[in-house]
Amino acid sequence: MSAPLLVLVSAADLPADPGWLHPAAAARVLALRTERRRRDHLLGRYAAARLLCLHLGLPVSSAPRLDVRPAADGAPEPWLDGRPLALSLSISHRDGHAAAALAPAALAPAAAGVGLGVGVDLERIEPRSEAFLDQWLWPDEAAAVRASPDPALRANLLWSAREAALKVLRTGLRLDPRAVRLELPGPGPLAPEGSLRWWVEGLPPRPAGWQRHGDLLLTWARGAEVPPPGC
Ligand SMILES: CC(C)(COP(=O)(O)OP(=O)(O)OC[C@H]1O[C@@H](n2cnc3c(N)ncnc32)[C@H](O)[C@@H]1OP(=O)(O)O)[C@@H](O)C(=O)NCCC(=O)NCCS
Repeated sequence: MSAPLLVLVSAADLPADPGWLHPAAAARVLALRTERRRRDHLLGRYAAARLLCLHLGLPVSSAPRLDVRPAADGAPEPWLDGRPLALSLSISHRDGHAAAALAPAALAPAAAGVGLGVGVDLERIEPRSEAFLDQWLWPDEAAAVRASPDPALRANLLWSAREAALKVLRTGLRLDPRAVRLELPGPGPLAPEGSLRWWVEGLPPRPAGWQRHGDLLLTWARGAEVPPPGC
């Protein structure tokens, strides 16, 4: 299984005319409490619209037909012309950028259940404190970060890959991030792009990966293969 479809956009890409946004989505943006939240949410929706149009072969002018609704757990679910799409969508925003990832889902997303989809996360590659390493990483991971030639990159990778996996599981931080186990990348400098595997106890390992974009790190994680029809 390979990387999902991915897109990364910046605030500078956002069209001046907000007409691309589904009217219900526009109302949801306005209802958000802070300006920062409205900006992030809007940019995430724009990344999602770009990716969905690309995947569905729709012109960008069709974007208002697409809605991305928040499920009860907060996960984004894509709809077209008032019907849910059998696609798993994930969104992340950070510092004026947003990423979206898309993968097939055999069932309507609301019914697809956990562990079938895709997760994406964006982090700024910045140094993480000793307290952070001790609190959020396993001791062998923290030791690998401290011994590595690129500790900031590696610490953020281990954190970000977990956040992406927690989105596949649809728990977010309701689940202790360390419940997600990661295959540690080798000790040398990390390549700008790579892959690893993640799992939680009782489930088989699943693919994940990263891409470095300047100071930003984009990670993705995938869940189980789409089950055959009838499952
Ligand atoms: C999912 C979560 C880990 C992402 O947090 P983050 O790294 O700060 O933010 P990101 O920008 O990477 O991701 C935010 C996006 O994740 C998505 N998301 C939210 N909850 C999700 C869930 N349960 N499953 C999958 N995706 C989820 C949303 O698309 C959200 O953006 P949007 O609200 O604008 O649509 C975090 O929001 C979370 O844990 N949420 C669930 C529990 C919760 O609400 N806790 C309160 C704080 S502990």
